[in-house]
Amino acid sequence: MPKTLQVKKLSKRFSGLQALSNVNLQLEKEEIMGLIGPNGSGKTTLINSISGVLHPEAGSISIGNMDVTGWKSDKIARLGLARTFQTARLFFSLTVIENLELGIMAASRYDVDDKVDELLNRFGLERWAMDRAGTLAYGLQRRLEIARAVGSNPEFLLLDEPAAGLNEDESENLLQLIRGFRDPAGLGCGILIVEHDLAMIMRLCDRVHVLNEGQTLAEGSPEAVRSNHAVVEAYMGKRYTASDHGSALT
Ligand SMILES: Nc1ncnc2c1ncn2[C@@H]1O[C@H](COP(=O)(O)OP(=O)(O)OP(=O)(O)O)[C@@H](O)[C@H]1O
Ligand SMILES: [Mg+2]
Repeated sequence: MPKTLQVKKLSKRFSGLQALSNVNLQLEKEEIMGLIGPNGSGKTTLINSISGVLHPEAGSISIGNMDVTGWKSDKIARLGLARTFQTARLFFSLTVIENLELGIMAASRYDVDDKVDELLNRFGLERWAMDRAGTLAYGLQRRLEIARAVGSNPEFLLLDEPAAGLNEDESENLLQLIRGFRDPAGLGCGILIVEHDLAMIMRLCDRVHVLNEGQTLAEGSPEAVRSNHAVVEAYMGKRYTASDHGSALT
């Protein structure tokens, strides 16, 4: 039965700041949705809310026919939702293999050794298998984090700026990997990806959801979003910092 990840009327406040208001979003399996918006527009807060790291005060989140609103993150993970963080969160003193084992055990449905071998191979991490995660180059750490998330065979995968800090080759490689996750012959999962590199978003995504100051500004195909006046204004109206690499809407 096809499953859907559904976010309805989600709102989240941090003391005086309305970080999200009334956000609706629906992600299907085998779909790649881009989540974009200027700095501070609520992208990470939305991912944190969906994955149970934060609890919204209004609205609901469901996976398939299961209402997971208010659930803890580990319980949501076992239902088939995996995520990565804006800055890599690995067990830096554990080896690559140990980090992968922990990801697989989060789902606890698979033979761990076989799965670790498959992940090492698929993500080209064999050479570093016995190295401590903290000693890896940054690009490899990011790759390991994604491998760990995918290791639980998720049905939905939320990626918060997975290409941040990667060079052009590494980003291209990542884009191909992400396409593979969506492929029904592979994981067939639904993917929500936050990314400031809009050229990458336009190439990768079936649909794009745009947030601005915690509200949905637009949602649609990459082409529709790119030519949406309000979206262009929201981007042009903000001053960009050095971390906003490649933000031009071209
Ligand atoms: N734990 C928190 N406590 C208070 N305010 C927070 C907290 N987390 C986020 N915020 C605020 O909520 C707003 C949305 O932040 P969020 O991190 O979701 O934005 P973002 O779209 O991911 O930005 P960026 O592109 O810089 O990663 C910002 O104004 C931020 O300062
Ligand atoms: Mg963020």
